[in-house]
Amino acid sequence: MDDLRQKYLGAIAGAADEAALEELRVQAVGKKGEISLKMRELGKMSPEERQIMGPRLNALKDEINSALSAQKAALGDAALNERLRAEWLDVTLPGRPRPRGTIHPVSQVTEEVTAIFADMGFAVAEGPQIESDWFNFDALNIPPEHPARQEHDTFFMSRAEGDDRPPHVLRTHTSPVQIRAMQDQGAPIRVIAPGRVYRCDYDQTHTPMFHQVEGLAIDRDISMANLKWVLEEFCRAFFEVDNVELRFRASHFPFTEPSAEVDIRCSWDGGALKLGEGDDWMEILGSGMVHPKVLKAGGIDPDQWQGFAFGMGIDRLAMLKYGIPDLRAFFDSDLRWLRHYGFSALDMPTLHGGLSR
Ligand code: PHE
Repeated sequence: MDDLRQKYLGAIAGAADEAALEELRVQAVGKKGEISLKMRELGKMSPEERQIMGPRLNALKDEINSALSAQKAALGDAALNERLRAEWLDVTLPGRPRPRGTIHPVSQVTEEVTAIFADMGFAVAEGPQIESDWFNFDALNIPPEHPARQEHDTFFMSRAEGDDRPPHVLRTHTSPVQIRAMQDQGAPIRVIAPGRVYRCDYDQTHTPMFHQVEGLAIDRDISMANLKWVLEEFCRAFFEVDNVELRFRASHFPFTEPSAEVDIRCSWDGGALKLGEGDDWMEILGSGMVHPKVLKAGGIDPDQWQGFAFGMGIDRLAMLKYGIPDLRAFFDSDLRWLRHYGFSALDMPTLHGGLSR
């Protein structure tokens, strides 16, 4: 009896995990365990022997059972202590602040442009950045063989093998939104459409993705004079300086007739870009009277309606207004640049509150 006692109490105290404990329990007090077998032998004993052995065996069984549950509890405590030690965390350490961004000049300028045109009665229209070649070209009077298609440095999406339909393109300008707005709303129309456009081109003033804002006004008696007034009014409001000088230059676009490009006087002296002085001109927009074929493609009767359209480079407007020399830095996601050129999230540009402050 003493041997059994020592054997099991020693083994239980040394058991390393619950599985080992369970094995010992089966060996000692399980149905066919050593103690249980000994209890069965009680029946063959004389009554005197049984009176001594019975209580001793029972006591031993109790002792082993409580040793088992004590060791089980001890193992659980040890595991918890180990977790607490391993997962220790100093909650009094200071937090690590997340880098704080600012409003990007492109977002700021888009808001400013939208506020100015909203004041002149223009709503905002939208279109997809992945566009069909019909909306991007054909509907704008640029048929497949037209040389203007080459000038656009178009990114083409790929088609599945054996699919001979013309591929979709990343829109090369916001002008397809003109067609979408005409189809959606019919005449009259007064919208702007800001958004991303894509061309395969990269240097100090060109990036493969950039931003334009399209303008479209269609009514019964809209003329080139209205176009000129709207653009001059826009520039005065946008640049917030008195000495802005614009130059309207006769030009050509397949989707407008007549067409004009607008340049703004600036200087690049010492690498800094300044407005309203110097001998350089920076092109900021293309414009003209909407071509009758374009009205037709949009489902509008050119005998009843006419209008003007323009497309401006938002990034270039931002460079000019805020004196930012290199367009490529716009898309580097460099927080130092953004802290220098960015805007406060709390200063929404409005005409009454000030556009840029
Ligand atoms: N879509 C032309 C471009 O990207 C700009 C433009 C728009 C010109 C509308 C005339 C009318 O260069």
